[in-house]
Amino acid sequence: MKKTVTKKEPAKVKRGRPRKQDGVLLERTDKVILRDKNTVLKIFGPSYKVSLILNEAMNEARAAETGLPVAKVIEVMKLRDHWCIRREWVEGETLADVMAKDRKNLVKYLREFVAIQCEIFKKTSDRMGNLADKLDKQISASPLPKETRYDLHMKLQSFPRGKALCHGDFNPTNVIITPSGEWRVIDWSHVRLGDPLADVARSYLLFWLSGHVAAAEKYLALACEALKAKLPDVQKWLPVVAAAESAKAQSAKNHELLLHWASVVDYE
Ligand SMILES: Nc1ncnc2c1ncn2[C@@H]1O[C@H](COP(=O)(O)OP(=O)(O)OP(=O)(O)O)[C@@H](O)[C@H]1O
Ligand SMILES: [Mg+2]
Repeated sequence: MKKTVTKKEPAKVKRGRPRKQDGVLLERTDKVILRDKNTVLKIFGPSYKVSLILNEAMNEARAAETGLPVAKVIEVMKLRDHWCIRREWVEGETLADVMAKDRKNLVKYLREFVAIQCEIFKKTSDRMGNLADKLDKQISASPLPKETRYDLHMKLQSFPRGKALCHGDFNPTNVIITPSGEWRVIDWSHVRLGDPLADVARSYLLFWLSGHVAAAEKYLALACEALKAKLPDVQKWLPVVAAAESAKAQSAKNHELLLHWASVVDYE
């Protein structure tokens, strides 16, 4: 049966430059995220490969199929020349905002953050790529010297591949706490199956890169406690994860930091 889809353009797309009052949640050079009634539209710039956009929507759909509370994909479409993904709007505040407003309870929120990540690790999927393969490709694309890249490839090969669902960009801006206190995790574009400790290493790095060094250390200690993992078993992932991240670091400062970390091959 043919279904009619109304493609009413949000004001922002009609007028060009996005503005805060148009419901813009986030704006980057190559994408805009805006609220459109009870949905969220992610509008991609022309530099994005269509295959990456479709893959992002596919990853979000696969994450939803695990039964985790997420913002479901509603449609993938084109508005004028822009590819877009429309998701459900989730009422609430991001855990990042909650943490910033109530700093004295940081440890309590970090515990909650870790507990949510552990719920994600309990899931798996038979339709998802492995994180180790992605990291391997990213190391190859990193600006590190050939010898360092070789060492990192070898190191990665010796690590467990794992089958746990790893969000891949697990940071407090991607967790929304609803008014009734429930959580939902958004932004599944990087999800893969892998070793939970690799995902913990990446979250640790994300805290660092966003300037929250004390939170990074506390998070790491809490994650090790929750997963009954030894600190060096997470730390050994850091050079690999940093090298992978260096392929796409946005600021020069972060780029330098990541390259330094990636070069410390024998972290232990
Ligand atoms: N479904 C949603 N419901 C409510 N708020 C949302 C939703 N999707 C996104 N947001 C808000 O927009 C912000 C950015 O969205 P999202 O995480 O999808 O972008 P992003 O891809 O992480 O961008 P970048 O990775 O470049 O930071 C979120 O931190 C959140 O505040
Ligand atoms: Mg995000």
